Amino acid sequence: MKTLKLGIAGLGHVGCGLVDLVQRQENLRLPGQVEITGVTARNRSRNRPVETDSYRWLDDAAKLAADDSVDVFVELIGGSDGPAKVAVETAIKSGKSVVTANKALIAMHGQALAELAREHGVDLLFEAAVAGGVPIVRVLRDSLAGVEINRVTGILNGTCNFLLSEMLDTGKSYDTVLAEAQRLGFAEADPTLDVSGMDAAHKAAILAAIAFSADLDFSKVSVSGVDGVELLDLDLADRLGLRIKLIAEGKIAGDGVVCRVEPFALPKNHPLARINGSLNTVRVEGEPLGAVTLTGPGAGPGPTASAVMGDVAKLFNPIARPAFGHAEHHARRK
Ligand code: HSE
Repeated sequence: MKTLKLGIAGLGHVGCGLVDLVQRQENLRLPGQVEITGVTARNRSRNRPVETDSYRWLDDAAKLAADDSVDVFVELIGGSDGPAKVAVETAIKSGKSVVTANKALIAMHGQALAELAREHGVDLLFEAAVAGGVPIVRVLRDSLAGVEINRVTGILNGTCNFLLSEMLDTGKSYDTVLAEAQRLGFAEADPTLDVSGMDAAHKAAILAAIAFSADLDFSKVSVSGVDGVELLDLDLADRLGLRIKLIAEGKIAGDGVVCRVEPFALPKNHPLARINGSLNTVRVEGEPLGAVTLTGPGAGPGPTASAVMGDVAKLFNPIARPAFGHAEHHARRK
């Protein structure tokens, strides 16, 4: 049976979720064996919910990325620049495929990293970067390759959705619910990324680039968030028969793509208004398909780790296909 050796950089909520999955992989349906050959994280001595002491520890993510024993480099550090980017570039240049959950990195540098991966004949996979456990990246790239997509809409941030629905349901304050989202492992290390709409915008930019074969240009996404939303706002909307939701949308406009993230007040019976808690949802509209909607857990260690593991499973039969666009990448849209 083939064995894939993982180097895991980042042992936060998602990293520990992945270690847990590797440790009980006999319950999964992987095409082979997965082994952890090295790990690294900012803080070695922190208490973790899984046993990590028995793994070979490296002090530097880039060293792990270049390590000869590693087949697949798994980047769960986060952040668009700094150690995550350096390590991913190092892994690719060392001929290793990369699996990452890092939406900021992919949104800001995905185009260049995909090109680098193409040059080195390795894969760059990032299912976990968008909508946590909802398998939308693979569906858009592969299953819906025969669809001319004209619009993608959804709820792409579990923390904001949790905040908006939980405050209304329980009457708890913004700060209390945000702290709960952090404890449950939904929120980013810096939760301003969530509440400002930036995290959803990163994800929307990635989806739009895939859906519309467009260049991935994060600077073109217009963003507003839900920071500081008050119970009063949610209650007032409720009395008017409305639910406030942070909605992401990408669509074709002329020969270009428009992408935005904004709070909307939707009628209570609107399908998106009924997506509560940390759930994410993505609706894809196109021809000749019509529309398809995927909904599921959009944040949290388990769902996100399962998406990472799904990408690892895919690497047993590597495809070395560009992450964005086609073999010869030409953006079809601006
Ligand atoms: N902070 C993100 C969210 C995690 O709340 O959706 C999943 O990407």
